[in-house]
Amino acid sequence: MNKPHAETSDQIIQRHDAYLINCYPRYRATMVRGEGCYLYDNQGAHYLDLFAGFGAGLLGHCHPDVVTAITTQAQTLLHPGNLFHTEPQTLVAEAIARHGFAGRSFFCHSGADANEAALKLARLYGKAKPGSQDPANGGRFKVICTYQSFHGRTFGTMPATGQSTVARRFEPHLPGFVHVPYNDAEAVAACIDDQTVAVMAEPLQGEGGVIVPDDAYLPALRSLCDRHDLLLICDEVWTGCGRTGQWFGHQHWNIEPDIMTLAKGVGGGLPVGVMCARGKLADYFDCALQDGVVHASTLGGNCASMAASAAVLAVIERDGLIDHARKMGQYARDRLAKAFLDCKNIKSIRGLGLFIGIELNQPAKPVVEQCMAAGILVNAAQQSIIRLAPPLVVNQNQLDVGLDVLEALIRKL
Ligand SMILES: Cc1ncc(COP(=O)(O)O)c(C=O)c1O
Repeated sequence: MNKPHAETSDQIIQRHDAYLINCYPRYRATMVRGEGCYLYDNQGAHYLDLFAGFGAGLLGHCHPDVVTAITTQAQTLLHPGNLFHTEPQTLVAEAIARHGFAGRSFFCHSGADANEAALKLARLYGKAKPGSQDPANGGRFKVICTYQSFHGRTFGTMPATGQSTVARRFEPHLPGFVHVPYNDAEAVAACIDDQTVAVMAEPLQGEGGVIVPDDAYLPALRSLCDRHDLLLICDEVWTGCGRTGQWFGHQHWNIEPDIMTLAKGVGGGLPVGVMCARGKLADYFDCALQDGVVHASTLGGNCASMAASAAVLAVIERDGLIDHARKMGQYARDRLAKAFLDCKNIKSIRGLGLFIGIELNQPAKPVVEQCMAAGILVNAAQQSIIRLAPPLVVNQNQLDVGLDVLEALIRKL
């Protein structure tokens, strides 16, 4: 069992405050161990984790296959550098293609990193195929994004993100980003002009509060992009790798984006970002065709991260976790809908697969904090939305334990 550690949380937090930049609103808890759907703190308490570190713990904490893959790889080769071929990279890229995205992959470290690569690739496409009114062959460069989206916090992805709290204070921003309401293809159509090169959207908005679009939305974006020779970029950082009950979120609507980005769960807890591009589009990053290196990352695709990622993808396939996520998610949403049939505190229950949003008619944070005090980890987004994103290995008993607590707390509001 978990032994109390020598230092109290207060002592660790004091040292944190002295030596770390306080970027995150952290709980006053110090986690020391994880196993499956459980996290253990340094005082011996344990928590049922129904949020999996913003989705990064896709298979739960320290899944034995992932641990073995990392350990074995670490004893063999960590990173010879990207001037050499390594097998783990090919395994991950091949698995992504096999599971439905018929394209080629570039590896980096995070969601923002992957989206940066996507935006750079779109720039090159826009230069190669400029609009007819394009002045001085600068190329098409505008990207249509959506309000309430989240694509990262770098200088390229901040202005793509449709949340003012992310981008404010960092002006001037990179130009060329336009925002329209999510789930509104007509609004996208209305702002396409001769400088537009891409449309960027999450198949389901995650940080925006688990917003599932209408069935017509993504197909409409796909046909707009086809009609106007625009790239459709699907940011699948939240929705990729089984989270929503499909390998990739866009598959719910039978469309194919031109570019897909992955991060969070695809590394199973290690930093992995992936930018995948379809067909000939990937050639714009091809150093042989482009006469030199166009995009790169020193440690991108390092063997340890790739071994973890290959194990994550293999376990999802072997253990039927896509189907499991779909069933467990449906179970949880049905149970919540039944429990809150006449509950005035609930505005809506939504989601796909194991990505679930519960919208309250009041702030969600107090409920999330009380859940934590009761040993259940969930998350609050956009003020009034409780988010659940348990590991894909969660079972019905574990969901029931968490939902018992959550439902009781919401009813008491
Ligand atoms: C849809 C989406 N894209 C990109 C990102 C950025 O990912 P990262 O924090 O790994 O840079 C996030 C983070 O939450 C996200 O939800």
